[in-house]
Amino acid sequence: MATENNNNEEQHQPRADRGAWGHIIRGIWRTPLGVFSIVLTTVSITLMILGMAAELFGFFHNPYVGIFIYMILPGCMVFGLLLIPVAAYLRRRQWRKGIAKDHLQLNLSNPKHRLFLIGFVILTVINMVILGVVGYEGYHFTDSPYFCGMVCHKVMAPEYTAYKRSPHGRVSCVECHIGPGAQWFVRAKLSGLRQVYAVLTNSYSRPIPSPVEALRPARDTCEACHWPEKFYGKKVKQFISFTNEDQVNPEKTEIALHIGGHNPSTGRFEGIHWHVSKDVEVKYLAANEKRTSIARVKVKRPDGSTDEFVKSDVEVEDGYKPKWRTMDCIDCHNRPTHIYEVADEVVDFGLLSKKMNPEIKGIREDGLTVLNKKYASQDDAKKNMVNDLLELQKKRDPVQAAKHEQDIRKAGQYLLAKFLGNVWPKMNVWWGTYKSHLGHQNADEGYGCWRCHDEEHENKEGETITQDCSLCHDDPE
Ligand code: HEC
Ligand code: HEC
Ligand code: HEC
Ligand code: HEC
Ligand code: HEC
Repeated sequence: MATENNNNEEQHQPRADRGAWGHIIRGIWRTPLGVFSIVLTTVSITLMILGMAAELFGFFHNPYVGIFIYMILPGCMVFGLLLIPVAAYLRRRQWRKGIAKDHLQLNLSNPKHRLFLIGFVILTVINMVILGVVGYEGYHFTDSPYFCGMVCHKVMAPEYTAYKRSPHGRVSCVECHIGPGAQWFVRAKLSGLRQVYAVLTNSYSRPIPSPVEALRPARDTCEACHWPEKFYGKKVKQFISFTNEDQVNPEKTEIALHIGGHNPSTGRFEGIHWHVSKDVEVKYLAANEKRTSIARVKVKRPDGSTDEFVKSDVEVEDGYKPKWRTMDCIDCHNRPTHIYEVADEVVDFGLLSKKMNPEIKGIREDGLTVLNKKYASQDDAKKNMVNDLLELQKKRDPVQAAKHEQDIRKAGQYLLAKFLGNVWPKMNVWWGTYKSHLGHQNADEGYGCWRCHDEEHENKEGETITQDCSLCHDDPE
């Protein structure tokens, strides 16, 4: 009896297996959907692993490949994995209609079932690990300057180009734009999604507006690398310029800036970096979005005293709701890395470095004219700028133009290269679109220190925020 029973069971066993699970597993292979999902998953995983390995060994360094490896392929893999149970379910329904009404059960005392379960768990773990690694790498990928600057290359070209040549060209975008911590990370990724949407629907602003309303306070970002207690002392800066009348002898101005900070010899916070001392708080109420017009300034001094300076004739911009803002690094260093050059300075540097031959009469004026010309696109400038300069020179003095044609072309090439690094007509970024607050060269348009240091913001006693030149700089010794 016993043997018979055994035999019976042995005969029964394969059938039971083929019965529920076996049917399904094998069945998946027989439905087009099942085959598709398995092939999709396998191919995605293989390509992902090959791709990551190739990237690891530096075979390519291309953001579009990154999008493929870290976004599209994992998407396909997850989609494929989800399809497998769907295919199984559909197959099971078919099979149940036709053959039998066997119950689907997992029997752990059945070695085949055990094997199946172990296999399933191992495969799941492997999949999770792969997804984990890809997710981690993908997260770094979406944080790389490469991704920020290149993937949206048309949109970010101005910022990326200016960033690459700046002192922060090796600091990644996220260190200033996101900084540490989960909260800002989530905010950044959400706003990133909005931005991707804006790019896809072509609805982003041109130029991208500045100041960045939601930029993280500099306390959390800049101060990871620079700290206000650092003492810089004085810094001598030289400014060199020419005029249209004199292209040969430069005007030189030297100033010694009182950058200051915490002075270890006096124990005091002094000079320009006084504003960011931990014992000082300067707050201001801007009257427009650009923060170029300031209505009120509140100050808390190291001795604990407070004061408020008010400029009475300031009008609030239409539709702008004034908000108090605590002054930090970015209210002076608004261009620490996206540094755009100034057209005059570009031309003057050309003359100084002899990239533009100063002997050619009128080259400064004509150079500025072509630099400031409203070319329709960068390609338009590439096609026409050098010739435009040549034409202007011919009109001015045909004999000189013929004699110096070579040098005029060289000057044109220099100016063109500068144009391409600073002007993006399609993004509406022209010379001076993004101005700096550091100093007072653009004081007329409301940029720089003189927004507050203008002798027009008064406290109750009628005192003002001073514009005394020697407060900020003096002559170098
Ligand atoms: C050293 C810090 C720093 C780094 C690194 C940095 N940014 Fe910025 N970024 C800023 C500051 C500061 C502003 C201007 C904020 C303001 O005026 O409110 C800004 C502004 C911008 C703007 C708004 C337009 C403008 O020019 O004002 C964009 C877009 C931008 N950054 C993109 C990027 C991208 C892309 C990268 C990396 C390729 C990057 N940033 C790297 C600090 C940084
Ligand atoms: C990840 C580190 C890091 C962060 C974050 C950072 N910086 Fe810097 N910064 C540097 C380094 C490194 C240099 C020196 C570069 C050099 O000497 O070429 C520098 C240089 C500077 C300089 C001097 C530039 C010059 O002309 O020589 C200024 C000003 C500055 N940073 C301001 C800022 C501000 C403002 C922020 C925040 C928006 C900031 N930095 C964020 C690393 C950083
Ligand atoms: C009130 C305006 C103002 C504020 C606020 C300010 N700075 Fe500056 N900072 C300056 C000026 C002006 C200079 C000299 C600029 C130059 O080199 O042209 C300077 C220079 C620097 C330098 C370069 C020093 C050197 O030796 O070249 C660094 C780095 C710097 N600042 C970092 C910071 C950081 C970080 C913060 C915020 C904690 C900050 N600054 C806040 C105005 C300011
Ligand atoms: C948002 C307004 C505001 C801006 C912008 C501003 N300052 Fe000031 N600054 C003040 C106030 C307020 C005081 C303190 C006045 C007082 O205590 O009576 C001050 C004080 C100073 C002092 C004296 C610090 C000390 O040792 O007591 C210096 C130096 C200075 N500013 C330089 C600058 C420079 C340089 C810039 C531009 C790069 C600048 N400030 C931009 C508001 C501003
Ligand atoms: C609140 C601070 C502050 C005051 C007050 C101030 N300056 Fe300046 N000035 C600066 C800073 C900061 C720079 C450096 C700008 C840069 O690094 O590009 C500068 C640069 C300059 C330059 C060289 C750049 C240029 O614009 O040609 C000159 C000249 C100058 N200042 C003259 C003056 C005179 C004259 C006064 C007095 C009426 C004065 N400044 C008052 C902060 C100040």
